[in-house]
Amino acid sequence: MLAGKTVMITGASSGIGAAAARLFAAEGAAVVLTARREQLIEKIAAEIAETGGQALAVAGDVTVPADVRRVVDAAVETYGRLDGGFNNAGWATAGTPLHETDDAVFDQVIDVNVRGVWNCMKAQITAMLADGRGGAVVNTSSAAGVVATGATASYIAAKHAVLGLTKAGGDEYGRRGIRVNALVVGSTRTELMDQVLADTPSLEESFVSRSMQKRMADPVEVAQAAAWLLSDRSSFVTGGSVPVDGGWTAA
Ligand SMILES: NC(=O)c1ccc[n+]([C@@H]2O[C@H](COP(=O)([O-])OP(=O)(O)OC[C@H]3O[C@@H](n4cnc5c(N)ncnc54)[C@H](OP(=O)(O)O)[C@@H]3O)[C@@H](O)[C@H]2O)c1
Repeated sequence: MLAGKTVMITGASSGIGAAAARLFAAEGAAVVLTARREQLIEKIAAEIAETGGQALAVAGDVTVPADVRRVVDAAVETYGRLDGGFNNAGWATAGTPLHETDDAVFDQVIDVNVRGVWNCMKAQITAMLADGRGGAVVNTSSAAGVVATGATASYIAAKHAVLGLTKAGGDEYGRRGIRVNALVVGSTRTELMDQVLADTPSLEESFVSRSMQKRMADPVEVAQAAAWLLSDRSSFVTGGSVPVDGGWTAA
C-alpha cells in the first residue's frame, strides 16, 4: 500500500507510533522514526531493517522546531523526498479537575499535542512543496477531540485543536496536492493508556463501555487507518476526521 513512499512517524518509540512504523514498513514504505527515547527507535528501526525493510531513526522532541526540521531533512537526504507524515506523538495525564490543574500541566499538554503537530506540519509541508509532488499528512487526534470524554480539559482542548489544524491544512494545501487528515482515536492499549489507568483505575470500565465494540483497540488497528490515509487509496479524502474508536463518538 505504501511502496515507494517515505513516511515520517512521530511518537515511534511506543504504542501506536511503534505499531505504525512496523506496519508502514511492511506495506513498503521507507520509514523515518522519531521520538525522544533514541534507544527504542533505534531498536525498532534495526528490527525493520533485519526483515528487509528501510528504516531510519532520528531522535528529537516534537516541541522543538529545530529537532523536527532535522528529522524532515534526514528523511529527504536519506530517501530523496518526504511523501507522508504521521504526527502521532502525544501526551496525556488522568490529571485533575480544570480549576485544580497546574498551569505547567496545561502548557505541557498543549506543547506536545498542539505545538508538536504544528511544528511537524510546517516542516513536512515545506519539504513537500519544495519537491512539488504533493504528499499526505495524518495527525493523531482522539475521541477527546470531538467530545468531552472525561479526559483532562487541557487534553480535550488540545485534541480539538489538532482537528482545527487538520482542517486548515487540508484547505490551504488541497490544490497543491497535499492531503491532511486526522484520526479520532478511541481507547487503545498503549503505554499512555497504561499510565492513565494506573492513575485512575475506575476509568477502564467507562472507556470500554462507551465504545460500541465494548473493548479497547490494539495499536495496530489504529496504524491500519493511518496507512490507508497516507496511501494513494484515500486520494479524495482530505480535511477529514476519521474515527478509529470502536464507535465511541457515534454513540
Ligand atoms: N492510547 C489511547 O487510548 C489513545 C486514545 C486517543 C488518542 N491517543 C493518541 O495517540 C497518540 C499516540 O499515543 P499512544 O497511546 O501510542 O501512547 P504512548 O505509547 O505513550 O506513545 C506516545 C509517543 O509520543 C512520544 N512523545 C511524547 N512526548 C514527546 C515529545 N515531546 N517529543 C517527541 N515525542 C514525544 C513518546 O515518545 P518518547 O517518550 O520516546 O519521546 C511516544 O512514542 C497520542 O497522540 C495520543 O494522544 C491515544
